[in-house]
Amino acid sequence: MTSDSPYPELKKTHTMARKGRPWRDYKPPPSGPVWTIIQGYGSYWILVAAIDLGIFDALESQGGVESRALADQLGVSAPHLQHVLDALVTFGFLDQVNNLYELTETAERYLCSKGPASMASLVKVAPGPLQNWTDLAQTIRTGKVATPIEGDAAAFYGPLVQATFATQLRVAGRLGLRLGWARRPGLKVLDLGAGLAPWSIGILEQSQGSTAVVNDLPGIIDLAGAKLAERGLKARAELRGGDFHDIPLEAGAYDVAVLGHVCRTEGEARARSLISRAVNALAPGGALILADYFADNDRKHNPFGVQMGLTMLASTMRGAMLTHEQVHGWLTSEALEAVRLVEPIGFNQVYVAIKTDKRSVKPSGT
Ligand SMILES: C[S@@+](CC[C@H](N)C(=O)[O-])C[C@H]1O[C@@H](n2cnc3c(N)ncnc32)[C@H](O)[C@@H]1O
Repeated sequence: MTSDSPYPELKKTHTMARKGRPWRDYKPPPSGPVWTIIQGYGSYWILVAAIDLGIFDALESQGGVESRALADQLGVSAPHLQHVLDALVTFGFLDQVNNLYELTETAERYLCSKGPASMASLVKVAPGPLQNWTDLAQTIRTGKVATPIEGDAAAFYGPLVQATFATQLRVAGRLGLRLGWARRPGLKVLDLGAGLAPWSIGILEQSQGSTAVVNDLPGIIDLAGAKLAERGLKARAELRGGDFHDIPLEAGAYDVAVLGHVCRTEGEARARSLISRAVNALAPGGALILADYFADNDRKHNPFGVQMGLTMLASTMRGAMLTHEQVHGWLTSEALEAVRLVEPIGFNQVYVAIKTDKRSVKPSGT
């Protein structure tokens, strides 16, 4: 071995021809990350099957159960079920001790249909239509989604907003505790793209005598009405159906304007215009609340935010990743001050900003 050998730790017999490029081929990186992605596909469908079969709900009411007994209870093939149960153990959703299976706390909380923060019905709808994923390469080639969710928005958003209601109500409730809505009676709320109105409900339940203008598309707005009625709040809400880019909005009239998970589907121009409309509708001193799933500014440290951006790209006409830098820039270019980011519950971040009284309010309808 010569002293100026570039890789003195390798034997002299090592040549590129025989063993390939040193380090790259001699000590290859593990293939695990590729397998993780390949098996991620199966993992997703195993979870969907477990929810469809009612495995989590069946285990909720009992302690440790043998797979055969559970198979009898569910009326399914015992050897097949055991494989699924073992996979669920590897995901951390079940524990198995001495062949008895039981729920972990994660499954109790998120995967039982009556769990305190159930995501059971979200699992199927959250990724968007399956076909848009199988067609992703074509979407990237053409820059166009073949069957965007906007083609039949109510069909997509109906199940989605049912599935996200409980979580968003908790986010709103926690945010309200921080912002002190209970100490501020009579708030006037504007909720654009409200879904089942978790944000309005969160505010109306904390702030006495407050009222809300609740907006969503035809086909969804009635679901919001039904949910408000169920919570005894129908009389304090005005349902204003229609496209949030076009519906008339009173200028300078609201104490709180909510954009809850609506900006990421809109693309930059329409998201900014929507923010402008909401800000214009606020009275000076009113609060803009913008909740979404954001990516980090380098687009690499928060895989959840990056993946959410891809999910938007895969299934919507204009949706894309939202970085904090981008959204913060949009907010600070408006008549807003005290822009801050709050995380009322894990994974759910919310920008809160106050309408300044320094700029004049634009005429209504802009
Ligand atoms: C992801 S959901 C969010 C629901 C609710 N704001 C929340 O935070 O849970 C998006 C909502 O925006 C509504 N939406 C989408 N485009 C809209 C539009 N152009 N005008 C009004 N509502 C719209 C959808 O129907 C859906 O209810």
